[in-house]
Amino acid sequence: MTNQPIGVIDSGVGGLTVASELMRQLPKERLIYVGDTLRCPYGPRPKEEVIAYTWELVHFLLKRNIKMLVVACNTATAFTLEDLKSKLDIPVVGVIQPGARSAIKVTKNNKIGVIGTEGTIHSRAYPDALHHINSTIEVYDLACPDFVPMVESGVLSGSHAMQVVEGSLKPLKNHFEIDTLILGCTHYPLLRDAIQTVMGEHVTIISSGEETAREVSTILGYQKKLFQGNRKPRHEFYTTGKIEVFQNIARDWLQTDMNQVRRVELEE
Ligand code: SIN
Repeated sequence: MTNQPIGVIDSGVGGLTVASELMRQLPKERLIYVGDTLRCPYGPRPKEEVIAYTWELVHFLLKRNIKMLVVACNTATAFTLEDLKSKLDIPVVGVIQPGARSAIKVTKNNKIGVIGTEGTIHSRAYPDALHHINSTIEVYDLACPDFVPMVESGVLSGSHAMQVVEGSLKPLKNHFEIDTLILGCTHYPLLRDAIQTVMGEHVTIISSGEETAREVSTILGYQKKLFQGNRKPRHEFYTTGKIEVFQNIARDWLQTDMNQVRRVELEE
């Protein structure tokens, strides 16, 4: 049944950075995206809460008959990926392994920085994923809790954004000679310009969207589940929060007509 959609979940708008890459690499595939904007950020929440909320998003999508699940939220990936994989009978892809793989491909001095939410950083999911591939990599990680609320409120550039990014990245910028920085939160690519300016052009910024989409494509191809015909798919976007902010960010980021965003109440 290649006609089934791909489900994408996130705590809010950040996963749109992954959705945009899926739409670019797999232009015939139909996406159903649900962002839990109302309860965003997930980063500071206890693990059990993130797990419960993530399952609510997943149940919403399972009712829509998805053929694959993309967990486009690093915090949810860190806390739930293994559980989801073991309980669902569709393929499940997170964003941490793909991000780690991309970073290892580009680093030259084996010193990699990772920024993410408190939840992701404390979970140690990135150092584990990086060391699983190459145990000699030096990993310097840092939680940047101010970034997600700023992105969710639509502040992506300007002097306030610059100030917050500069202040948050100071410990990483001044103390280690990293040549690669993983944006370990899918909201952070929306602040990419500010992050690149602060870190300097010599640091390669990695966001996991591209590699995640490649993994989705490989898995669906291998399982012969890619859509075979020709079509311009109608994607569906749902948010648990205010439609307007979601719509504005989505319109800018995906450069597509966003009148289709709908509000949803999740069931516990
Ligand atoms: C958050 O909800 O705190 C951020 C999402 C992410 O970790 O990618």
